[in-house]
Amino acid sequence: MLVNGRQYRTLWWEDGALKMIDQRLLPCRFRILSVNTLGGVCDAISDMAVRGAPAIGAAAAYGMAIAQLQGLGLKESYERLYNTRPTAYDLKDGLDHYMRAQGEPVEKAVEYANASSERCRMIGVHGAKLMREGLRVLTHCNAGALACVDWGTALSPMRVMKNEGRDLFVWVDETRPRLQGAKLTSWELKQEGIRHSLITDNSAGHLMQKGLVDMVLVGADRIAANGDVANKIGTYSLAVLARENNIPFYVAAPKTTFDRGCRSGGDIIIEERDALEVTHIAGGNRLEMQPITYDGCPARNWAFDITPRKYVRGVLTEEGII
Ligand code: MRU
Repeated sequence: MLVNGRQYRTLWWEDGALKMIDQRLLPCRFRILSVNTLGGVCDAISDMAVRGAPAIGAAAAYGMAIAQLQGLGLKESYERLYNTRPTAYDLKDGLDHYMRAQGEPVEKAVEYANASSERCRMIGVHGAKLMREGLRVLTHCNAGALACVDWGTALSPMRVMKNEGRDLFVWVDETRPRLQGAKLTSWELKQEGIRHSLITDNSAGHLMQKGLVDMVLVGADRIAANGDVANKIGTYSLAVLARENNIPFYVAAPKTTFDRGCRSGGDIIIEERDALEVTHIAGGNRLEMQPITYDGCPARNWAFDITPRKYVRGVLTEEGII
């Protein structure tokens, strides 16, 4: 991805450590986090320094490499990484790939990260064919390069279009409570030079009703065998609104997000995070969380929801559109 004109990946191996763009601080600060312990990788995933399904899959593979280099038990390390976040299937895919792969520890993780980046690039190649010049796309959360090793899922076709010199416009949901849209997606689109406008999460219905949205395109954290999709909380509401307004609703995801062992969305574990993320709001520096409710206000914080497959027009994958 482009950061001030220079190419970066979300995470990579350098000087004996896993480096990652610290997503908790964007867009106010661009800081590279360096992690060289299994606990450090687990914390980075659960605290969302690295987040987004394919990115945490790759982080988990690097975490296994660190564990193996340090002589830790692979089974216990697998369990610790697996238990960091429950919803994204890519996390398990990255761990399982590592367990199956042959070779040096870091090589195995790099191989997974490279393949993950390529899968996302191909999602863009296939997805861009679906998108016409001037399209107005609405997206939710961050399914961009930051959520992956590179390219993104939902944002990958947009990048491919941009590279082909084709114009499009993106409505960016702010995505409460952690504001991945406001903080990450709008920043990525600016870096890539793609036209966009940030909107509050509550605006989508109004914009659709006014005929200002041609397509909804989001990522996924897990897709069940029947096609139900788990993605960032609020995705289901968008899908229902899109159906009501005759707007095609598409999901972009690599094969590593498909969980054949999960029959339907009802079997997917939905992560519930700390209520503090709802009662407080974080500025660029996570240490600066500000309260927005009275002290002690009860709150709940589900991170994902399930969109039944009947609302999904198609899934953009690295092999084409399903
Ligand atoms: O809680 P997050 O920020 O990890 O949630 C991320 C999402 O919901 C993305 O839409 C999803 O991982 C697909 S990203 C390519």
